[in-house]
Amino acid sequence: MIEFKNVSASYDGELAVLNDVSFTVNNGDFVAFVGTNGAGKSTTMRLVNGLLKPTSGEVLIDGVPTTSLKTSELARRIGFLFQNPDRQICCNTVREELMFGFKALGEEGSEAEARVDAMIERFGFDADAEPYLLNRGTRQLLALASIIVLAPPTIILDEPTTGLDFRECVKVMDVVRELNENGTTVIMVCHDMEVVGDFARRVIAMTAGRVVADGPTFEVLRDGRVLKEAHILPPQVTEVSLILGREAACPAAVAEANTVAQMVTAVAQACDREVEDVEVEAID
Ligand SMILES: Nc1ncnc2c1ncn2[C@@H]1O[C@H](COP(=O)(O)OP(=O)(O)O)[C@@H](O)[C@H]1O
Ligand SMILES: [Mg+2]
Repeated sequence: MIEFKNVSASYDGELAVLNDVSFTVNNGDFVAFVGTNGAGKSTTMRLVNGLLKPTSGEVLIDGVPTTSLKTSELARRIGFLFQNPDRQICCNTVREELMFGFKALGEEGSEAEARVDAMIERFGFDADAEPYLLNRGTRQLLALASIIVLAPPTIILDEPTTGLDFRECVKVMDVVRELNENGTTVIMVCHDMEVVGDFARRVIAMTAGRVVADGPTFEVLRDGRVLKEAHILPPQVTEVSLILGREAACPAAVAEANTVAQMVTAVAQACDREVEDVEVEAID
């Protein structure tokens, strides 16, 4: 469990970048942080993994303040994917990159080797390839793999899909979804509301260093006040349903649809038509 209790933070000790931020992330959650550039999302992530300490208030990981956790303990509990994979990648081969975390923790050995092998197999990596020569999407997957190979109970992803094409985005998010289904807590910063709507169960919206909303994904993404304050646009289907409800007094099923499948079913019903099972793959 991760708790922020009235956290304020600053980079230079004077200007507050976070102001009185409080929230709790429970084990198994899938939370997305949204808001404009400069809102304090990445700063919040740095506080979770202990790279930055609060100027006031407390950040607790499983009840222990980050100020009294060693870097190695934090690294075991929280895997951190930087926005730019090139800030993370530092080795000459894919295999070395995947072993890097174990080396840093002094945990090399047959167990580590086996986990690295399993990761290479799962992602279909070429173990001897040079990381810097891989394309952007594969580098992002390698950076993600180098974190999850350590099996941390929580992962933090700072804009995991920025700069990826559609297929790469689906690949990365499918891995993240599977991890979460198997119990990993996921905290993700994301600008793409389609991705947020498809994957996150909860949204925390930030503006100017403060939390302005925290709730189930579509409650937050349908709240006009929040959309305005955090300068975000909801996923397109949600926006269409909001407008149809507001401007055209459409039936509730249409006005409340959040996904393509819900919208198709609702519109067909409103037109007195039948549709067979609507199966729409996430962001496909
Ligand atoms: N390393 C840093 N040193 C000084 N100020 C920073 C640093 N990183 C971010 N900031 C400032 O902190 C504020 C919040 O930034 P950030 O947490 O990166 O926002 P977001 O991730 O929501 O775009 C911004 O005003 C930004 O300029
Ligand atoms: Mg950021």
